[in-house]
Amino acid sequence: MGQTVLVDQAFVQPQEHRPKTVVSDADDIPLIDLSPLSSDSDVTSAPETLLAQVEAACRDWGFFQVINHGVSPELLRKAEATQREFFALPDEEKRKVRQDEQNALGYYEAEHTKNVRDWKEVFDIIAHEQDEIDVVGLVLKNKWPQVPLGFRETFEEYAKSMEKLAFRLLELIALSLNLPPKKLNIFFEKANSLLRLNYYRPCPNPDLVLGVGRHRDPGALTVLYQDSTGGLDVKRQSDGEWIRVKPISNAFIINVGDTFQVWSNDKYTSAEHRVSVNSEKDRISIPFFLQPGSCINVRPLEELTDEKNPAKYNEYSYGEFIRARKYGNLKKLEVQNIQIDHFKRAQ
Ligand code: OGA
Ligand code: NI
Repeated sequence: MGQTVLVDQAFVQPQEHRPKTVVSDADDIPLIDLSPLSSDSDVTSAPETLLAQVEAACRDWGFFQVINHGVSPELLRKAEATQREFFALPDEEKRKVRQDEQNALGYYEAEHTKNVRDWKEVFDIIAHEQDEIDVVGLVLKNKWPQVPLGFRETFEEYAKSMEKLAFRLLELIALSLNLPPKKLNIFFEKANSLLRLNYYRPCPNPDLVLGVGRHRDPGALTVLYQDSTGGLDVKRQSDGEWIRVKPISNAFIINVGDTFQVWSNDKYTSAEHRVSVNSEKDRISIPFFLQPGSCINVRPLEELTDEKNPAKYNEYSYGEFIRARKYGNLKKLEVQNIQIDHFKRAQ
């Protein structure tokens, strides 16, 4: 049957990537209760059962949700309300803090994933500003809007609390790989970690477009908050089926990024995911991407490789990798943008 296409052609996904109307929701990603962790930042006391849950989730799904993570519900409410106020502003107000080719921080409404335009608006905030342009030419200075009032304070506080949680998870995941818990912390001394505010408005053709096209996150791990609308789909490893992640109030969704997949030499998985939209309700989400510094080279860790399990990837520069990704996402390219498979060794 023919259908009326109401959106610009640039948003329309190729046939094979359009969201199916029914996504299986018989299953869900694992849910992990972090209450056994003591409130200080030491994870060495984590019980074996918790480590086993983390290991299984990172290996079999690359995704899980956490509850009892220590982030206050009040902070989540405040961030959500401030984010909604910002995206409700008139376009000309939002464009005052728009990203450009010199500084890819602030507001943006024309991102592409794999060369198809995403049905979303974003606001990017770097967790640690730097005065100088970094080694690969990235400007790491935030653009703060004048309105809504308190925007900067809210998201500075929010980014700090995300970073704290992300480091506890980093240490927990390191421990689950039998590494000393702080083994990976050195890669984040000049971290490129990013807080992203996503806004997905209702869409008249939800079956033709995606809020974010299928992709994998490039960093070490992502801590994502979503509102109650739902729309994040994860590709299940066992059968390649897209699974809708059920919103759980006050929970965070954690996923392992490409960097962990390479460090762990494919033991842990950076799962493909995407965002479906709907015609009735808008949706917000707030991912915090824990990312190594630009000068870090990423390769399988020595502790996790040996003669029987040789390194499956060649070393690459994290900074070059994200710069190529980021600038590829700002506009439509003639070529597919870079993915970690590019560094995979022939076996
Ligand atoms: C992303 C992403 C998911 C969401 O921004 O990388 O995957 O639920 N977002 O918004
Ligand atoms: Ni993502």
